[in-house]
Amino acid sequence: MKFFIDTANIDEIKEANDLGILDGVTTNPSLMAKEKITGEDAILKHYKSICQIVNGPVSAEVIATDFKGMIKEGERLADLHHNIVVKVPMTTEGIKAIKYFSENKIKTNCTLIFSAGQALLAAKAGATYVSPFIGRIDDISGDGIGLIAQIRRIFDNYSFDTQILAASVRHTMHIIDCAEIGADVMTGPLKAILQLAKHPLTDSGLAQFLADYEKGNK
Ligand code: E4P
Repeated sequence: MKFFIDTANIDEIKEANDLGILDGVTTNPSLMAKEKITGEDAILKHYKSICQIVNGPVSAEVIATDFKGMIKEGERLADLHHNIVVKVPMTTEGIKAIKYFSENKIKTNCTLIFSAGQALLAAKAGATYVSPFIGRIDDISGDGIGLIAQIRRIFDNYSFDTQILAASVRHTMHIIDCAEIGADVMTGPLKAILQLAKHPLTDSGLAQFLADYEKGNK
């Protein structure tokens, strides 16, 4: 399973990249606003900076909601760097745009997926990735992981090339469950990725090894 980090924060992206296990980055307009990246020029510059850090796909979301606007914006984003993946919302206009982009060799990430039907439609349009938001589904007492499993079965039934990008990941169990089910990618916060390394028995075991070494090498 590929690991993407879900942030527009340059320091976090660098820290995750330095771990050596980072495969890509996802951003969205809220994450860009959180970093106070505003205005077209600054936004495009920021995407370029991210692409210079990470050698992998970087999702950049369109703001336009109509087909023509999405195409214009998406082509501009794709021209920035070969690693840019144009993130398009799950709407009927978005589906038309994904179809256009896939016919023109521009990679896409269909975002805001909350049902298997939406994922199926995006895959049929030729999306490179679909992003089911598992955390937000769990937030309203739904079954985010169940949705990943359902989409996995559907995509396997028909051998769709579209990759399942489990998004809105909140914690380590989301990551582990996604890996068990066979999500192609997960995108989450740095904190959840780092937490995978933690175990109290690792900490106490290491402390014991070091103490024993000290005793024997006084
Ligand atoms: C996906 O690409 C989105 O940016 C993201 O995962 C949304 O996560 P959130 O529900 O934590 O905002």
